[in-house]
Amino acid sequence: MHSEEQLPLEKKIKTELAYLEEISQKRQLVTTNFAEQPWLMIDGRRMLNLASNNYLGYAGDERLKKAMIDAVHAYGAGATASRLIIGNHPLYEQAEQALVNWKNAEAGLIINSGYTANLGIISTLLSRNDFIFSDKLNHASIVDGALLSRAKHKRYRHNDLTHLEALLKNSSIEANKLIVTDTVFSMDGDFAFLEDLVWLKERYNAILMTDEAHGSGIYGKNGEGYANHLGLQNKVDIQMGTFSKALGSFGAYVVGKKWLIDYLKNRMRGFIYSTALPPAILSSIKTAIELVQEEPERRTLLQTHSEYFRKELTNYGFNICGSQSQIVPIVIGENEKAMGFATRLQKEGIAGIAVRPPTVPENEARIRFTVTALHDKKDLDWAIEKVSIIGKEMGVIE
Ligand SMILES: Cc1ncc(COP(=O)(O)O)c(C=O)c1O
Repeated sequence: MHSEEQLPLEKKIKTELAYLEEISQKRQLVTTNFAEQPWLMIDGRRMLNLASNNYLGYAGDERLKKAMIDAVHAYGAGATASRLIIGNHPLYEQAEQALVNWKNAEAGLIINSGYTANLGIISTLLSRNDFIFSDKLNHASIVDGALLSRAKHKRYRHNDLTHLEALLKNSSIEANKLIVTDTVFSMDGDFAFLEDLVWLKERYNAILMTDEAHGSGIYGKNGEGYANHLGLQNKVDIQMGTFSKALGSFGAYVVGKKWLIDYLKNRMRGFIYSTALPPAILSSIKTAIELVQEEPERRTLLQTHSEYFRKELTNYGFNICGSQSQIVPIVIGENEKAMGFATRLQKEGIAGIAVRPPTVPENEARIRFTVTALHDKKDLDWAIEKVSIIGKEMGVIE
């Protein structure tokens, strides 16, 4: 074979990349500065940050930064090994104790990221002859966990309990069954119908797992999550969540019964075969769990901003996908149009990111706005007006 000839795999990959380009789905990394602040910088341009998951503003918080810096000075930069070898730093015990106290749970485990948490928990607990019932709009990490488990993967239409019940009825009575859902959906910003899911899981002898990635820190009296907001925390068997969004840090957690956590420690491959988190991350997790309970005013402010932003965009005629939270998408439609909308926003000084398939369904490309407690109401007003002007120019609203 001549060196200039392409290998079949190279040819296949290049063809696919060209296709992604053609359908406006090719992703590019954009260097961003100050993402932890309400105004960020992209390509030297200052923009209002309506794209981060730093909902409560803790990512730039001096107390979190200090906790990390102090831990680096005291304990070094890295964990040096997995937790089951010598990476189980004393800060793990302190952070996990803070976690179980906060969530009022029997046991808890910190996991390296939300993605590995979902992948690991689901694929460890379920196997070939089991059933997984998963909302169509659940996060990709849940889908991947289900695929890796090799269980029978049944995806029900978004928040469609009738569809879910039909699927449950069709599964075998003796089989292990897991119902899994985001509590706050990451791309639509709406909530799962947790009361109904609890009812169904009890009726059909299933276990229920929630992903509180976008609920942790925000809902519940002490920011425990959306299940607590509804008083259903004791009805959810497996509660997973992340520290990487409202808690401003990094990593994820799972809480539940002791037997569940013990089993994960023994069987979850992403936990066993991966280096532990650096001490600085654990220190910031512990601090964030404390702050989130001490500062309910941030939650209140976030709710006020979110409600205002949703109401104004709806009044202008945008389709916000039934959002009920701080995640406020506006549906644009075709990929190219959504990309064009995002470019126009950025020209005006607004960082609002276009989200395209496969992250969202075909022809539902959107701009996913997120508001935070740090935003200034004046800035939100300014942005809403700009968004409405672009919306009219591009024919998204009348
Ligand atoms: C619902 C949901 N679950 C899990 C994750 C993954 O979390 P992490 O970013 O910590 O890996 C995300 C974040 O993108 C998410 O939105």
